[in-house]
Amino acid sequence: MKIGVIGAGFIGRAVAQLALAAGHDVMLSNSRGPHTMSSVLSGILGVQVGSAEDAAKFGDVVLVAIPLEHYRSVPAQWLEGKTVLDANNYYPNRDGHIPVLDRFETTTSRLLAEHLPHSHVVKVFNAIFAPDLTQDARPHGAPDRRALPVAADDATAKAQVIRLLDELGFDAVDAGGLDESWRFERAKPAYCVPLDQAGLKAALAAAERTVELPAVERVRA
Ligand SMILES: NC(=O)c1ccc[n+]([C@@H]2O[C@H](COP(=O)([O-])OP(=O)(O)OC[C@H]3O[C@@H](n4cnc5c(N)ncnc54)[C@H](OP(=O)(O)O)[C@@H]3O)[C@@H](O)[C@H]2O)c1
Repeated sequence: MKIGVIGAGFIGRAVAQLALAAGHDVMLSNSRGPHTMSSVLSGILGVQVGSAEDAAKFGDVVLVAIPLEHYRSVPAQWLEGKTVLDANNYYPNRDGHIPVLDRFETTTSRLLAEHLPHSHVVKVFNAIFAPDLTQDARPHGAPDRRALPVAADDATAKAQVIRLLDELGFDAVDAGGLDESWRFERAKPAYCVPLDQAGLKAALAAAERTVELPAVERVRA
């Protein structure tokens, strides 16, 4: 599969490494252009680089991993009909206040889906710290395999992403549609906590819409 990645930061690069290791073709992009990505090229063997538009055109599926405040810059016309993976989270200190999110009236992935009305948006990779993506990936069936939550309105796109997660080293838990994806947004019990499928299901069920937990403490060495 060809995977385009919009955002060459911590999450984009970690997913790119896993996808390349699984045999996929990957193009990373950022906002400043490919001439600024020589360290990415030399640091990730086999990766291609381009503009955000290049990555959107390149991908059979396209990951969006950028600061949420820039979601409206994602090139919608090149993503029509495609599965778009949404790893974005809302941090008001970084992104500025988005009142509909502050009022718990919508979800981060619904905002992106409204910007990409002809794409199939799947919320995934937002609830794991970037370094954990490469550290926690395990082969199918490993006893300590971690599960990640996935939400989407389109069942075909969701199934495609669950298969991709399995290839990349993770089990999945279906968390419902995009309007349910608040259950694993920032400050919910499932956010960036290593859990297996049973633990993740329990954490998703325990989430309360307007209750925000304190920031997760990193306990990993
Ligand atoms: N870091 C984590 O552990 C983690 C975990 C889960 C989810 N997330 C979420 O994933 C998203 C990305 O986080 P990150 O930590 O990977 O960010 P990051 O390291 O700060 O990198 C952000 C990347 O996005 C690019 N970018 C910014 N605006 C862009 C635009 N308009 N078009 C194309 N590319 C653009 C930046 O490129 P330029 O420098 O050229 O602007 C940079 O390559 C955030 O929403 C974050 O909350 C992060």
